[in-house]
Amino acid sequence: MRAEDWDGMATVRRAGVAGAGTMGSGIAIVLARAGLETVVREVSPERLAEGRRRIEGFFDGGIRRGKLTPEQKDEALDRVDWVTGLGDLADCEVVVEAIWENLDAKKALFGELNDVCFPETIFVSNTSTLSVTAMAAGSDRPDRVVGMHFCNPAPLMKLVELSRALQTSDETFARATAFGEQLGKVVVSTKDTPGFVVNRFLIPFENDCIRALEAGLGTVEEIDKAVKLGLGYPMGTFELLDVVGLDIHYEVSTSLFRELHERRFAPPPLVMKMIEAGYLGRKSGRGFYRYEGQAVFGA
Ligand SMILES: NC(=O)c1ccc[n+]([C@@H]2O[C@H](COP(=O)([O-])OP(=O)(O)OC[C@H]3O[C@@H](n4cnc5c(N)ncnc54)[C@H](O)[C@@H]3O)[C@@H](O)[C@H]2O)c1
Repeated sequence: MRAEDWDGMATVRRAGVAGAGTMGSGIAIVLARAGLETVVREVSPERLAEGRRRIEGFFDGGIRRGKLTPEQKDEALDRVDWVTGLGDLADCEVVVEAIWENLDAKKALFGELNDVCFPETIFVSNTSTLSVTAMAAGSDRPDRVVGMHFCNPAPLMKLVELSRALQTSDETFARATAFGEQLGKVVVSTKDTPGFVVNRFLIPFENDCIRALEAGLGTVEEIDKAVKLGLGYPMGTFELLDVVGLDIHYEVSTSLFRELHERRFAPPPLVMKMIEAGYLGRKSGRGFYRYEGQAVFGA
C-alpha cells in the first residue's frame, strides 16, 4: 500500500506483528485467519523460525482436532511474510507490537518504526501492564498509538481490550476499534491504567490460587477442578498459568504490584522457585503440569 492509496477507515489489508513469542504468534494467527496480509518480524532468524514453528504447530493441532483443513492452513500461511528487518514493516497499515514487556524497548521500537512506516500507520501495543501514554510519547506519532490487549491464547479468546493513551486521537481509536472487529474480536474500551480490566481481576485471583496451593488447600488438579466446575471458568488457573508462562506471570504481577501497591498483586514465592527450576509452563515442557514436547497453544 502507498500513502496516496490510503482509504481512511476502510478495512486493513496488510498488518505487521513485531515479536513472534507466545502472544505475537497468536496475534499473527488471528491476522492471517482474518484474511490479512501479515508480516511477522522477529529479531533473529532463530527466533523467527521458533515463532514460525509455533504458528504452524497451532494450525497442525487444529487439523488434528478437525477444526480446519490442510488447505485452510496453507491459505492462511501463504498470507504471511517472515522477516527480520524493520524496514519490511514499512507498508503495513497497522503494526502490533508484542515484544518484551519493557517500556524502553517498546518506546525504541515505535521510535524506529516511525521512521520507516507511512505517517498514517497506526501503532498498537499488546502490553499487559505498561503505560500506553508513555509509549505514545516516545513514538513521534503520539496520536496514532493505541493499546490493544489480546487475551492469551489470542487465537481462541474473543476479547480485546482497547485503551487510549492520553494522546490517542478519536480517528485512531475508531480505526483500532474497526480493526479489532475486522479480526472477529469483541472490543471493550478501557482506561490506560495498569492491568486494564482483565488483569486487574485475573492476576490477584491467580496469585490467590498459587497461595492456596502453597498453603496446602488442595492439589494443582483439585484447585483447577474447583475453579472450572465451581466457578465456571473455561480453564483451571494452573492450566492457564502454564499457557501464559510463569516468567511472564512474574513480570506482570511484579509490575502491577509496583504500580498499585496492593499485596494481592505480588507474586507468591513459588512463582520464582518454579522459574529458577525452569518450570515455565508449556513453553519449557513443564510448569504446574508436564507436557510432551514444547506446546504453547495446547496442541
Ligand atoms: N503471555 C501472556 O499471557 C500475555 C497476554 C497478553 C499480553 N501480553 C503482552 O504481550 C507482550 C509479549 O509477551 P509474550 O508473552 O508473547 O512474550 P515472549 O517473551 O513470549 O515474546 C516476546 C518476543 O519478542 C521478540 N522481540 C523482542 N524485541 C523485538 C523487536 N524489537 N522486534 C521484534 N521482536 C522482538 C523476542 O525475540 C521474543 O520472541 C508483552 O508486552 C506482554 O505483556 C502477554
